[in-house]
Amino acid sequence: MNETNTQYGGRPSLPMQGVPQPKRDEVLGLPRVHISTHPVMAHKMTALRDKNTQPPEFYRLVKEIGMLLAYEATANLTLEPTDVETPLERMTGQRLAGGIGVTPILRAGLGMAESFREVIPDAQIWHLGLRRDENTLQAMEYYNQLPHKVDLQVCYAVDPMLATGGSAIDAINILKLRGIPLLSYVGIIAAPYGLLKLSQTHPDIDIYVAALDESLNDRGYIMPGLGDAGDRQFGTF
Ligand code: PRP
Ligand code: URA
Repeated sequence: MNETNTQYGGRPSLPMQGVPQPKRDEVLGLPRVHISTHPVMAHKMTALRDKNTQPPEFYRLVKEIGMLLAYEATANLTLEPTDVETPLERMTGQRLAGGIGVTPILRAGLGMAESFREVIPDAQIWHLGLRRDENTLQAMEYYNQLPHKVDLQVCYAVDPMLATGGSAIDAINILKLRGIPLLSYVGIIAAPYGLLKLSQTHPDIDIYVAALDESLNDRGYIMPGLGDAGDRQFGTF
């Protein structure tokens, strides 16, 4: 551990101090990484980042941005034919083949899980609690409501912030043990460091984010970022 990283000295812990980080340009072309280019997304992201945006508005924006991401992330879902009767005649329509799962990484992922439910109301929500230790930046599991019966075509792990990547990597590891055929990660802001780590550790998943930022600061916060996504959603400052 870094010498300046102290849990007990009353000084802030600086676990990322001196840790080499890739530049933004170096991770732009990673395979299976999708960074939104939608102008409405960029507009909403500016309001989300604003330090004057208060929790009720912040939560609403997380849900709206999450819905735009949900549309992007679900664009390749498998469909199956199904008969439907319109008021005029019978036709063959399409429906999603197999269940859709959404795993919010607690607690900041809760707003995004709501977004996915708006887009796919019968999605199953699999709650997973991971807390990042502010001194070591290691994620610790504290809650797990993943069912044992798996009947999904895909599961989306959702969490607004991809910082060091530790929480996302652990979440995907846990979901992989359930044998889900297809997994994706959906986040709002990624740091180059965490994006590279997640992509290298799990090259078989798709990663969707609304924005790719510049770096992590010494405390492991995304810069310029938006601060603490959990605190800003739930008003716990
Ligand atoms: C935040 C965030 C991610 C994690 C990202 O959660 O929502 O889960 O940190 O950091 P990482 O990429 O370095 O792992 P936090 O642990 O602060 O918990 P919270 O959602 O309860 O605020
Ligand atoms: N978690 C957050 O909420 N924000 C960051 O910048 C990093 C981790």
